[in-house]
Amino acid sequence: MKKTVVLLPGDGIGPEISAEVLKVLDAVKGQFEIDIAIEEDVIGGCSIDACGVPLSDKTLAKCKAADAVLMGAVGGPKWDDIDPTLRPEKGLLKMRYEMGLYANLRPAILYPQLAGASSLRPELVADLDILIVRELTGGIYFGEPRGIRTLSSGERQGYNTFVYAESEIERIGRTAFEMAMKRGKKLCSVDKANVLEVTVLWREVMQGLASDYPEVALSHMYVDNAAMQLVKQPKQFDVIVTGNMFGDILSDAAAMLTGSIGMLPSASLNRERRGLYEPVHGSAPDIAGQGLANPLAMILSAAMMLRYSLDQDEAALAIEEAVARVLDQGLRSADIYSEGCRRASTAEIGDAVVAALIG
Ligand code: IPM
Ligand code: MG
Repeated sequence: MKKTVVLLPGDGIGPEISAEVLKVLDAVKGQFEIDIAIEEDVIGGCSIDACGVPLSDKTLAKCKAADAVLMGAVGGPKWDDIDPTLRPEKGLLKMRYEMGLYANLRPAILYPQLAGASSLRPELVADLDILIVRELTGGIYFGEPRGIRTLSSGERQGYNTFVYAESEIERIGRTAFEMAMKRGKKLCSVDKANVLEVTVLWREVMQGLASDYPEVALSHMYVDNAAMQLVKQPKQFDVIVTGNMFGDILSDAAAMLTGSIGMLPSASLNRERRGLYEPVHGSAPDIAGQGLANPLAMILSAAMMLRYSLDQDEAALAIEEAVARVLDQGLRSADIYSEGCRRASTAEIGDAVVAALIG
């Protein structure tokens, strides 16, 4: 059956890594006889330039109708001083919210070939394989009221609201328990229940779910301790489930354990398992357009898309194996370069993945 994918390259390094993903998707389409129609559109800064908003209703409608959305990255200094309600990031947040993409899966896997690129000693990160399940459409990112107001004293005050309803906690909790069942059966729920009531409720709901998944060992950790444990003894974790903001922060930390944020893909899924797939890294405007970007996180995001939204497990695995082979060959973009390896441009890495796929 024909599947439709909307490709949103976005800003900064987005377009150049997207070009490599297109090559890889073309190769798997041929090899596995997958019928995918890919349609390109705009999001973020380039959408602001083209139509005045970071995500137009027309593009959103197209994304909602597609089987999957594949995105590069959004944002850059050009749009830093813009009206905050129109920032490039707002396009991404709108898409997550409007498509109901509440479950954000962020695997942090250390490729053995990159053990030397981690900021931690190799023995602390060898075979690291963590999955962060981040709630993506609620919490302080979306809570109302929010804004900047002027107090009677004349001083301005910024405010946001950290809220979670039981149903929101339950659905992300179930996703995390189900993921844990398919992996090491260990789930750590991260909260700040010693201070924030919203996360007291979070902990209660997680505890309530545990009896439905008796095989999964559930533990709880405060977010500050979780940040410390991630850099102290990361291999104690299997699956981590947490709210939107804590997940944003912890997933950057986990990413760095694997050598580079340039390696990490993500999937954001809704109830129907339709999804948005994007690298965890940002638009890296400082290196954009120079062939320096690592396309592997977005290539691995395309693999996740094939697995979770397009039912193409075999093709997904083939891409992941091809990426491992390219690392075996010693090809490295600047972010994962270490001595004895060969520096490669964005396009060289994309070509090598294609060659490994069809070779
Ligand atoms: C992420 C990013 C986004 C977030 C930004 C770009 C809005 O940091 O996906 O982790 O905060 O969720
Ligand atoms: Mg982030």
